[in-house]
Amino acid sequence: MKADMIVFSGTSHPDLAQRIATHMGKPLGRSETLRFSNENIMVRLQDNVREKDVFVVQTSSHPVNDSLVELLIMIDALKYASAARITAVLPYYPYCRSDKKDEPRISVAARLVADLLQTAGADRVLGMNLHSPQIMGFFRIPMDQLLAAPIFFDHFNNVLFNKEAKKDWVLVFGDAGAAKAFAYYADELRMPVAIMDKARMDHSEKPVVRQVIGDVKGRNCLIVDDEITTGGTLVEAANKLMEVGARKVVAAAVHPVFSGNAVQKLVNSPIEHFIVGNTVPVAAKIAGHESRFEVLDLSPLFARAIGCIHDGTSMSDLFPPSVRRQG
Ligand code: R5P
Repeated sequence: MKADMIVFSGTSHPDLAQRIATHMGKPLGRSETLRFSNENIMVRLQDNVREKDVFVVQTSSHPVNDSLVELLIMIDALKYASAARITAVLPYYPYCRSDKKDEPRISVAARLVADLLQTAGADRVLGMNLHSPQIMGFFRIPMDQLLAAPIFFDHFNNVLFNKEAKKDWVLVFGDAGAAKAFAYYADELRMPVAIMDKARMDHSEKPVVRQVIGDVKGRNCLIVDDEITTGGTLVEAANKLMEVGARKVVAAAVHPVFSGNAVQKLVNSPIEHFIVGNTVPVAAKIAGHESRFEVLDLSPLFARAIGCIHDGTSMSDLFPPSVRRQG
C-alpha cells in the first residue's frame, strides 16, 4: 500500500505493541483512552491518521470485555479520523473458545466478535494460533492467522533439545483438538507423538484425562497446546503422564492466559518447565516463579506480518514448510 503506515496500541498489552513497533523501526502512534465515572470509554488519537494504513494492537486480556470495547472504540475513532485502512491485530483472539454451536441455545461469541470488528470499521484482521481455524471464516474481510511455531521450534531445537537429545523426547498433544491443530509440529520436529484422551463433562473448566494414547514410558514429554487458561488440562495431563511412567514433562503453549490460581497450580504440578508466548501480559502473573517459565517474544512475527500486509507481499515465509505446502 502506498499510504504511510502507523501502529497504535490499545491499553491491553502495550509492551507487545512497543516491541512490534521497535522491530518495525517506527514509533508507536499516540492515543489516549479516557475512562469516565460511568465506565464509558473515549479514545482520542493524538497523531494524524488521514489516508494512512493503520494497525491497532489489542489482545484479549484482563479485563477482557473492556479490552474488546476499547478496541472497537479505537477503530471507530480511526474511521472518523479518515484512516485509509484499519487492521485489527489480535495476538490472542477474544472469546476464541466460543467458536461453535455445539449445544442447544448457546451463543457463539467468537463470531459475534468478528461481526463487531467489521461493524466498527476494521478492514482486515491479523491473529495468531486461533483456537480453531473456523474463526477465520467468521469474517467477510481478510483475516490472517499467524503461527507461533517458527519461534517455538527455534527454542526447542536450540535450547530444549540441547539439554537432552531430541530422541529422548515425545511430543504430547493435550487433547484431540491439539492433535489436529499441532499435527505439523510432529512433521517439522520429526518426533514420535502421544495424545491425551481428555474430556470436558460440563462447563466447570475441570477436564478429565482418561488415558494416554502412545508410548511415553521412560521418555521426556513435551506437551503442546494453544492456550493455558486454568491450567487444568496440563496438570491433569502431567499427572497422568507421570503415572504411566514418563521421565519428565515440559509444557509449551502460545497463549498463557493463566486465569485465577493457574500459576500456583502449574508450579505445584510435576511439570518441570513452561515455554509460553507473550500474546498476553504474563510477567506479573509469573512473578516469583520466573525460573520455571520461558516467555518467548513473538513480536518479530507480528512485525514481519504487518510489513507483508502493508507492502502487499506474501506471508508464506512466516510459516513452517509443511503448513506452507498445505496452503
Ligand atoms: C482446549 O480446547 C484448549 O486447547 C486448551 O487445552 C484449554 O483451553 C486449556 O484450558 P485449561 O488450562 O483451563 O485446561
